[in-house]
Amino acid sequence: NYYAVIMAGGVGSRFWPVSTQEFPKQFHDMLGKGQSLIQRTFDRINDLVPSENIMIATNQRYEGLVLDQLPKTSKEQLLLEPAMRNTAPCILYAALKIYDQNPDAVILVAPSDHWIDNEQEFSRNIQTSFEACADRDILMTLGIQPNSPNTGYGYIQFETSEDEIKKVKNFTEKPNLETAEKFLASGDYLWNAGIFVWSAKSIVKAFETSLPEMLQLFNNTDVYNTEKEISFIDENYPLAENISIDFGIMEKAHNVHVLPVDFGWNDLGTWGSLYNKLEKDTDKNATVGSETIFRDSHGNMIRTQSGKRVVIQGLNDYIVVEKEDVLLICPKKDEQDIKQIVADVKKNF
Ligand code: GDD
Ligand code: MG
Repeated sequence: NYYAVIMAGGVGSRFWPVSTQEFPKQFHDMLGKGQSLIQRTFDRINDLVPSENIMIATNQRYEGLVLDQLPKTSKEQLLLEPAMRNTAPCILYAALKIYDQNPDAVILVAPSDHWIDNEQEFSRNIQTSFEACADRDILMTLGIQPNSPNTGYGYIQFETSEDEIKKVKNFTEKPNLETAEKFLASGDYLWNAGIFVWSAKSIVKAFETSLPEMLQLFNNTDVYNTEKEISFIDENYPLAENISIDFGIMEKAHNVHVLPVDFGWNDLGTWGSLYNKLEKDTDKNATVGSETIFRDSHGNMIRTQSGKRVVIQGLNDYIVVEKEDVLLICPKKDEQDIKQIVADVKKNF
């Protein structure tokens, strides 16, 4: 009864110029380990869930990329979205399609673009969550011990107890900096890893309570897993509200539970977070791709095309990224601005 949905519809614009709308970061080998992030994600999940029960939710334009990179996946496992509507609509679509196949399904919902160090520990944690959700009407998320007031994450306050799985008191998605600092200082908040487990029944029930209009839009028992599904989705998906599962469901539901985990999690959101994950030389320089000679330089993140010889002299704390016809040189402290840079340069390039 175990299923998974890998969400792979994001664009990853802060990893420009490597990540682009045509070829987003989840399809790249960001760490230089020989596999793209989505391939690694699929294999990690395939240890727990049979490959035919792993669905990939993504935009229609990435169909070819997914089928190329995940040869164990057939067309029936792709949930192709005709429009970008954030994560709530794609999770509901997946839940209804899976429920139609198996009303007792328990579903793991996972992002396609995270890095996890200890995959055995991850497997154990998901197994625990699967078992808990099989016979309880709860929405589960995995919680990470926070180490900075990062405003890009959801924050979870839980009730202390002896139980491994804790009841959540409060779920706050992307707080402002002041609130995030308060949460961090209080010591009783976890970051939401964005990895969820629930039964198909429980998540559909949660939409009924918190996003009833969206449920009404998608709730057509005649179409899922038939030849009518694609045209139904093409017609109705774009009408769905653009909202994340975190704002739409997790902040509102009263049956959220969290499993605190510690498997070496990194959501690879920026060049800086990738830098943190990579091996560094004695001057704290990290490179992906070609051989680089550093002289009197430290703290740099360099990614160039393999085969190119690179020499860096007297440069500190910079991101240097080359891709075919684009070269980006940007101070590491400005990494969050890359999203805006992409928007701006698109007009000029
Ligand atoms: N299929 C599909 N369709 N996938 C999508 C879409 C969409 O429209 N939008 C985003 N995704 C995918 C992304 O590719 C990513 O794998 C995942 O869904 C999460 O979306 P993000 O846009 O990366 O969310 P976030 O990072 O801002 O926030 C979420 O993750 C944090 C941890 O990394 C939230 O769950 C936070 O609470 C959490 O802390
Ligand atoms: Mg993310």
